[in-house]
Amino acid sequence: MPDQSGRTVIVTGANSGLGFEATKAFTQKGAHVVMACRSLERGNRARREIESMTTGASLTVLELDLGSQASIRQFVTEFDSEFDRLDVLLNNAGVMMTPYSTTEDGFELQFGVNHLGHFALTGLLIDHLLETDSETRIVMQSSVAHRNGTGEIDFDDLNGRQSYGRFEAYAQSKLANLLFTYELDRRLRAIGTDTIAVAAHPGSSATELPDGDSEMETSTIRKIFSKFVNTFLTQSASTGVLPALYAATAENVDGGHYFGPDGFLEMRGNPTRVVSNATSYDHPTARRLWDISEELTGVTFELEEPQPA
Ligand SMILES: NC(=O)c1ccc[n+]([C@@H]2O[C@H](COP(=O)([O-])OP(=O)(O)OC[C@H]3O[C@@H](n4cnc5c(N)ncnc54)[C@H](OP(=O)(O)O)[C@@H]3O)[C@@H](O)[C@H]2O)c1
Repeated sequence: MPDQSGRTVIVTGANSGLGFEATKAFTQKGAHVVMACRSLERGNRARREIESMTTGASLTVLELDLGSQASIRQFVTEFDSEFDRLDVLLNNAGVMMTPYSTTEDGFELQFGVNHLGHFALTGLLIDHLLETDSETRIVMQSSVAHRNGTGEIDFDDLNGRQSYGRFEAYAQSKLANLLFTYELDRRLRAIGTDTIAVAAHPGSSATELPDGDSEMETSTIRKIFSKFVNTFLTQSASTGVLPALYAATAENVDGGHYFGPDGFLEMRGNPTRVVSNATSYDHPTARRLWDISEELTGVTFELEEPQPA
């Protein structure tokens, strides 16, 4: 990673797994990292751990619950009052395969946290990214799981009220991450800015993710599943975070690109450019999701809709 001195980076879900590793890496290269964490206690514990291993670490912990539109707005207000530049927004936090549950605002948890939360956060921070006097980036952490389930967005039942499958809902939220990133980048290109939106995925990495949501009870079966996955099927979180770090900082990255590991089935390895499923590149689907996301969150981006090619 090139030197990051003087740069300000926000990492969501910075206290654990890939977010923790990203925070550590940015800090070691001299960036100031704003650790956006749902729990201040867990965030500060992680901050102390990074400080103990990095001389001169420059970190701020701010509270952010992506399942609460009020919390997202409060986070942005606090960020606004303390910071005047934003170089990288790493939208990393997430929950996986949770039992049916809703966010504070009534959205299905995985769709609400993984997609709508980051959609709103990005919309409320976009002016900071546009106004910062260097090339700035939004990086979205997606997953190979975006291909699972139907590989489509279920617009008739976005919040899983009629039928819910935890596996399918996770897949949909990760597909939504890609549709949003690519559409955001098209809209950024349409206004001629040097802010870009890029996607990444970590393959299969050993983190807390298979346990589900840390604020929900984890069943014994799930704990066994999680232990099995993390012991036999994963690479380390410090390797898994490399595609996101590459997307955030490498020189030869264009907006709308997607990076993942270069090994078998993109499960492990070094960062390389990868391709996502056909739906993720579909412009009408992306525009439809964008409009609904604006409606549901009440956050609108002041960006032109790109003209069809
Ligand atoms: N690990 C993998 O193999 C893998 C594969 C594909 C994609 N990913 C993606 O990588 C990202 C990071 O996951 P991870 O593997 O590092 O898992 P992790 O160790 O469980 O970390 C997830 C982070 O997200 C935070 N989070 C959860 N709900 C939140 C909310 N409502 N508001 C704010 N933060 C919230 C968690 O905070 P708490 O500590 O408070 O729970 C935690 O910091 C996710 O987007 C995931 O979909 C991971």
